[in-house]
Amino acid sequence: MNASTGNATGNAPVGRGEVLLAARDLSKHYRVRQSFFGPASAVLKAVDRLSFEVYRGETLGVVGESGCGKSTLGRILLRLEDPTEGDVSFEGEDIVGYDRRRLRALREEMQFIFQDPYSSMNPKMTIRDIILEPLENYRPDMAVSERETLAGDLLEMVGLTRDVLRRYPHEFSGGQRQRVVIARGIALNPKFVVCDEVVSALDVSVQAQVINLLADLKRRLSLTYLFISHDLRVIRHVSDRVMVLYLGQIMEIAPVNDLFDRPMHPYTRSLLGAISKGDPRNRQERVILRGEIPSPLNAPAGCPFATRCPMADTRCHEEQPRLEPRDDGRVVSCWKV
Ligand SMILES: Nc1ncnc2c1ncn2[C@@H]1O[C@H](COP(=O)(O)OP(=O)(O)OP(=O)(O)O)[C@@H](O)[C@H]1O
Ligand SMILES: [Mg+2]
Repeated sequence: MNASTGNATGNAPVGRGEVLLAARDLSKHYRVRQSFFGPASAVLKAVDRLSFEVYRGETLGVVGESGCGKSTLGRILLRLEDPTEGDVSFEGEDIVGYDRRRLRALREEMQFIFQDPYSSMNPKMTIRDIILEPLENYRPDMAVSERETLAGDLLEMVGLTRDVLRRYPHEFSGGQRQRVVIARGIALNPKFVVCDEVVSALDVSVQAQVINLLADLKRRLSLTYLFISHDLRVIRHVSDRVMVLYLGQIMEIAPVNDLFDRPMHPYTRSLLGAISKGDPRNRQERVILRGEIPSPLNAPAGCPFATRCPMADTRCHEEQPRLEPRDDGRVVSCWKV
């Protein structure tokens, strides 16, 4: 697979296109209670000064270890939570300042598809009611018969049959439940969808089917995805570009093939080292991760990765590297590359 042929979630060209969504210095800091002996509270920087664009029609993969801020980023981009600081623009409009009425309208355009389909479904609701829940809120005037038809159409779009409308979530497999959640996610015909670990809980063979479904829907409905996963293989398969997060900050953004063939940031190289053991081209570049991931409560002063980076010097520990956009469309936050 190469850049010109696109990838598993569609055929968007890799490179700069029309900006659908842009984040500027976006942060989400939580005030959390410290341990019994520590200070009463501390600030946890879950997402810290992120700036990036999402181009219309692309799949931007977001990868990083557990706790690096992926889900928080998804939530604040969609205004499910308010950012502490920073701007988000969607189709050129600043959405951070939106009031309740405009936010409600925005919810139709942007959807979040969750990680664990079972816990995001009410077990007492039928599949029909689950899929139609967003429509009850947003299309109260729609006739019952019209709704029924739409629910059936949505089920067929996600590869299920209409006759399951009256059944309950527990009657389905994990893959089928994920399809139901996807049907609900597209019910209002959104433009931008955040997929948060949508295949992580599924068997590999089922993962492939759900990824193919998402690709198919993306083409048919002209969707743009922010695709969050901690799984590098999935990220490589679905993304046009990839954003690598570490402790709430962007380490690197690159077109998918560039990132996997020529990772630049030492953190990206160490992450990829974990999957490239068999590939001699990557082996020599492999960076072995030392030490523990620091707590986001005590984020290091300089580069967040400096405490584990084999290339770090005094400057890296003291001064935050800038995200430098390069001519080839890549962005890297490192003093050493
Ligand atoms: N409501 C909250 N209050 C306090 N801290 C929070 C809250 N939500 C998230 N965090 C913290 O913010 C950091 C980022 O969490 P987040 O869930 O975004 O990470 P993630 O990358 O999605 O992780 P995972 O891969 O495990 O899903 C973590 O340290 C988490 O404990
Ligand atoms: Mg998460």
